[in-house]
Amino acid sequence: MNAMDANFWLQKWQRGEIGFHESVVNPLLVAHVDKLRVPQGGRWLLPLCGKTLDIGWLLARGYRVVGVELSQLAVEALFAELGMAPQITALGALRHYQASNIDIFNGDIFALTPAQLGPVSAVYDRAALVALPAALRQRYAAQVRTLSNTAPQLLVTYEYDQSLRAGPPFSVNAEEVARLYADAYVLDVVAHQETSAAPNGRPAAVEVARYLKPIEG
Ligand SMILES: C[S@@+](CC[C@H](N)C(=O)[O-])C[C@H]1O[C@@H](n2cnc3c(N)ncnc32)[C@H](O)[C@@H]1O
Repeated sequence: MNAMDANFWLQKWQRGEIGFHESVVNPLLVAHVDKLRVPQGGRWLLPLCGKTLDIGWLLARGYRVVGVELSQLAVEALFAELGMAPQITALGALRHYQASNIDIFNGDIFALTPAQLGPVSAVYDRAALVALPAALRQRYAAQVRTLSNTAPQLLVTYEYDQSLRAGPPFSVNAEEVARLYADAYVLDVVAHQETSAAPNGRPAAVEVARYLKPIEG
């Protein structure tokens, strides 16, 4: 990603403008996690993870977690809030934070390789695809597929009238999700609900959760 896009997020964290951060575990994750049939000890990839409480919740359920996050502030807050003291190692352009059952890569997701990331059982994308401008989303979706070896995915998006409001979060409609993922996954809408959470309540938005099931073969 370019420096301008990166600075946008780094500044958001520096200024504490993190309205996207939820104070509770995401109810859609809680409701639909079992659909992906990830075994105990399976490893969830959370791209663009911020310091979401969903990570602690997944760990408490006996899963392992691997996240990728640009902001060092966010990563350090995440570990402080988890009460964990990670080992930190430099990894090219990234930094690898590691503690029990958790790896967080601090840096640009586009700079990460599958070998560095390690195996992934499933992907949970909340406020990640929709955080990126249209021009980057194709590349992002391809990178998530590469990094996860097309693992099953729980994807949460928003849909609203983009002409009434600039993102992020951006509106990503069903056609676009299909364009990004339908060649490799069966797309199953598991929740479709009005929300005021994402775009400040205006315009009216719909939050959609999809289970992306890899097409066999
Ligand atoms: C809208 S926030 C969502 C965070 C988290 N998923 C949540 O639900 O709270 C998007 C996050 O992506 C990070 N980010 C943006 N572009 C990134 C990139 N290219 N690589 C890694 N992280 C990135 C930002 O720093 C920000 O924390």
